[in-house]
Amino acid sequence: MSLLNSETLLADLNKALSGIDNSESLEVLKASYLGKSGSITEALKALAALPVEQRRDAGASINQLKKQVEDLIGRRRDALKRSDLEKRLSEEALDVTLPGRGLSRGGLHPVTRCLERVETLFSSMGFSVADGPEIETDYFNFTALNTPKDHPARSMHDTFYLKDASGKILDDVLLRTHTSPMQIRFMKDHVARYQSGDMPEIRVIAPGRVYRVDSDATHSPMFHQVEGLWIGENINFSVLKGVMIDFLHRFFETDALDVRFRPSFFPFTEPSAEMDVAFGDGPLKGRWLEVAGSGMVHPAVLKEAGIDPERYIGFAFGFGLDRLAMLRYGIEDLRLFFEGDIRFLSQFRN
Ligand code: PHE
Repeated sequence: MSLLNSETLLADLNKALSGIDNSESLEVLKASYLGKSGSITEALKALAALPVEQRRDAGASINQLKKQVEDLIGRRRDALKRSDLEKRLSEEALDVTLPGRGLSRGGLHPVTRCLERVETLFSSMGFSVADGPEIETDYFNFTALNTPKDHPARSMHDTFYLKDASGKILDDVLLRTHTSPMQIRFMKDHVARYQSGDMPEIRVIAPGRVYRVDSDATHSPMFHQVEGLWIGENINFSVLKGVMIDFLHRFFETDALDVRFRPSFFPFTEPSAEMDVAFGDGPLKGRWLEVAGSGMVHPAVLKEAGIDPERYIGFAFGFGLDRLAMLRYGIEDLRLFFEGDIRFLSQFRN
């Protein structure tokens, strides 16, 4: 006696399984076969009522059927799991083609980039880099640079003076009008360090912000200069020319530029020259553009700094850093550098 028709049962089961799409209904279905009063369970219970000689065969075939049922249900369970996983994966999938939201990288200001370039180039020529105060005393900014109180050259440098707490204008401190006070500061430091014996050469640049009452497309009340100073026993005007010309070629990465030294006047250098540059190609081709003031350090300045002008001699220069940056990047209005417009600045990000 066959307690169950296994073929029908399996066919029914298969049909039921194919309609099942989640694990809860699968468990319900499973219980209807294998649960406490499931059909397979009932059939197994019914074995007890069979005569002994039939029990073995019937038991074996029910057990085989049970195994088949378990297999089919197990396979369906695996399939459901897989498709569940696939569904989750596809729902939670990242669209790797979407543009990222990452933090955008900042970059250095074009003037800073030029500054770093200037520092690298002069370092490679043996110059060290010094830094000094932007609030300067009248003494360092003018007097020690051979520009006493009544000197007419002071008027070219009208600057920002500072008030004390009571609102009184201090005539001793000001925002420095150039980086040249660093010449004095550096020389004095150097002299103090080598009080006795021979003094090693001074070879230094001092870049930084300077301030003047000036504002148009090529002048800003705050701008940047790079002061240079080379003092030794044998430093003549051709060294000055060599250093400055070499620097310009390397800074602009071209030999296709002409340089001229135009006689000029600064109270703290003698002779003095302004340096102009003209490019051999590009949009500024052929135009002379001023990039620096320079000259042999005036003996009175050396003396003021405590250096013997009979023994030591040298030169100084002051490059306009913003001017160099404008020429390097082909920018026509200096003020763009200081407006902080990110659309402009981000062009120099890399
Ligand atoms: N300090 C001068 C200026 O600002 C430039 C300069 C520097 C000239 C050093 C000679 C030597 O105009």
